[in-house]
Amino acid sequence: MIITFFTSSMASTAPDVSQDQESIKNSSIKFRSVKTLAESPELTSIPSSYTFTTNPDDELVTDPDDDDPIPVIDYSLLFSGTPDQRAKTIHDIGRACEQWGFFMLINHCVPKSLMEKMVDQVFAFFNLKEEEKQEYAGNKNVTDPIRYGTSFNASMDKVKFWRDFIKIIVHPKFHSPDKPPGFRDTCAEYCRKTRKLGRELLKGISESLGLEADYIDRTMNLDHGLQMIAANLYLPCPQPELAMGMPPHSDHGLLNLLIQNGVCGLQVLHHNRWINVTSTPNCFLVLVSDHLEIVSNGKYKSVLHRAVVSNKATRISVATVIAPSMDTVVEPASELIDNETNPAAYVGMTHKDYMELQRTNHLYGKSVLNQVRI
Ligand code: OGA
Ligand code: NI
Repeated sequence: MIITFFTSSMASTAPDVSQDQESIKNSSIKFRSVKTLAESPELTSIPSSYTFTTNPDDELVTDPDDDDPIPVIDYSLLFSGTPDQRAKTIHDIGRACEQWGFFMLINHCVPKSLMEKMVDQVFAFFNLKEEEKQEYAGNKNVTDPIRYGTSFNASMDKVKFWRDFIKIIVHPKFHSPDKPPGFRDTCAEYCRKTRKLGRELLKGISESLGLEADYIDRTMNLDHGLQMIAANLYLPCPQPELAMGMPPHSDHGLLNLLIQNGVCGLQVLHHNRWINVTSTPNCFLVLVSDHLEIVSNGKYKSVLHRAVVSNKATRISVATVIAPSMDTVVEPASELIDNETNPAAYVGMTHKDYMELQRTNHLYGKSVLNQVRI
């Protein structure tokens, strides 16, 4: 099917793509963001470069089942519960990591007002003038501290995704764009709080694996760990059924702590079905990521997830990746390995090489992880 960008009756009045390309060439703007595209006057259909053909076998989409709900973990019980409640919480975390690779975290220590402020600041960033944002654009390295971009892996994507993003490395060294006003301070505070949350949660996760509480923190060198903010903008799309916000993938790092602006769009794969994640205000959506799967020698599974778009509301999500230090060689915990009964299922690789692999390959799903699988 051929999808045209503008219907023919509008062709004479609408600014056309070539004009847009021309202005890209003549200014400091390096790529066309979805925001620029979505705000073009009279956009009624999407350019063919954004049309996504889905595999119908892939398409079992449902809301969560009452008999198998998305796990909910009460973080406060790790600290203020009775010993029994704490033990049960650790057990539940382990089960969620094993069966879903995903859970919702409630009663955590990050103030609701700070979560809202962070989302507002991200929104304000995306509302800056395009030239101001494009200062951070370019096909750069994974170690570049601030990257503004669009799609998923723009230099590799055959079909583009309906998403603009900014990725910021906030640890071991803190970086931030200077605009909009207040972004830096809010981001710094949000990152401090989520970092603490992630590290505490990883203690519970270590225990759930039968390891010492600080095992992951220590072996993954989290004192110097990489922490990254990936903020995503999904604007309303005129043909949401033909476009995709983010393709199925799993994340690098140990955990991804995701929040959103109250608009749903995340789907996680569970028992071969895409489950719509219904949002609960004030909770973190916690995604088990590839390096936790590797450390656990495959006991815990990084979750395949994707983001769908709608034609109604603008969606913002803010992902916080808690990850090993760049030079850590991530490999299965030796305590969990037995050469006879449970041999290592993954080869060791530094976090930096892993990220490079993700960037330079046209790889979706779990195919980066599959490259280190034995
Ligand atoms: C991500 C991600 C999903 C979302 O940033 O890695 O998967 O819902 N985001 O935006
Ligand atoms: Ni992700």
